[in-house]
Amino acid sequence: MTRSPPPSFLAVLGGERRDPPPVWLMRQAGRYLPEYRALRARAPSFIDFCLNPEMAAEVTLQPIRRFGFDAAIIFADILLIPLALGRRVDFVAGEGPQLDPLTMDEVAALDLSQVERILAPVGESLRLTRAGLPDTTALIGFAGSPWTVATYMIEGGGSKDRWNARRLAWAEPERFDALMDILATATARYLVMQAQAGAQALKLFDSWAEGLPEPLFERVIIRPTRAIIDAVRAAGVNAPIIGFPRGAGLMYPRYARETGVDAIALDHSIDPAWADAALPPGLPVQGLLDPAVLRAGGAMMDAEIDRIIKGLQGRPHVFNLGHGINPDVPVAHVERMLARIRGGA
Ligand code: CP3
Repeated sequence: MTRSPPPSFLAVLGGERRDPPPVWLMRQAGRYLPEYRALRARAPSFIDFCLNPEMAAEVTLQPIRRFGFDAAIIFADILLIPLALGRRVDFVAGEGPQLDPLTMDEVAALDLSQVERILAPVGESLRLTRAGLPDTTALIGFAGSPWTVATYMIEGGGSKDRWNARRLAWAEPERFDALMDILATATARYLVMQAQAGAQALKLFDSWAEGLPEPLFERVIIRPTRAIIDAVRAAGVNAPIIGFPRGAGLMYPRYARETGVDAIALDHSIDPAWADAALPPGLPVQGLLDPAVLRAGGAMMDAEIDRIIKGLQGRPHVFNLGHGINPDVPVAHVERMLARIRGGA
């Protein structure tokens, strides 16, 4: 009987090295793909798109069919958690997400009772996707981390400097920490559900971890992340967990040591040689390529790919971007990147 090898992505998250490194891209299902835009045009809204298992599974599989990435990330969004807690979430074309700004008076009324029911379609997307994936391709589930999700809830969408979230974290520590606890509970349940539905690895996106003084980083990034990971493990889920505290800078090593993550995703401000020296030995690393250099392509991109691979040759490495792919990236640049990583270019 022949058995196919386990996904190289999971071997690397388990601490092994692979040459060439496995590769996937943050936001790999998205608007740079014509087949994504075609299907997206048929969904009434972005939320409907995320909660339609057939459509979500199809867009998750699109970049795998086209490029043969080593991992698929389920098509969903970090703002499904506020939706599942009873908040209004709309995606307005050209303007990004819009929510009703959450006040501290409303925190106690957030309703945890419907989380699994409202997010059940994501579980169905994972089942459908797993059935359509090659055995050698890993399936990643994900959620936003409490701080990043809270910034969107409090600001009512994206914001330049997360001023209201930062202000309230200092001014109203009790109610703000209660919000972190509610989000951590909802997120842990959501991740457990995703693992039970077939996610083989889990990723926590803390996209706004930048610019926080140490006491806040401890309270709103490290503590809630640790709480989520402890709860997921207590539920018996063993899938490796990747943390992405984007912009954490000098706090990356503490995040890596203190949260319990199994792997860390680094943004493109980080020098691979610094990361290799500063992070716990053997901790798997992914990320680093500047999405703008993928947009630029050419010899400069090749040199960046080589620099990252060389800088991380001493530890388990998954090749990835330092942030999400931009809608204007030409498909040919992704193909060139893959050829460079996998050899033959
Ligand atoms: O392919 C994949 O990577 C999986 C799907 C995925 C999406 N969002 C789909 C999406 C993932 C992993 C996310 C995570 C996410 N969503 C983050 C964390 C990562 C990061 O970028 O920092 C954040 C902050 C969000 C919130 C969000 N969703 C914003 C701010 C926006 C609007 C900005 C934009 O690019 O338009 C979205 C919309 C969104 N989520 C799109 C996609 C493909 C584009 C909208 C569309 O197709 O109409």
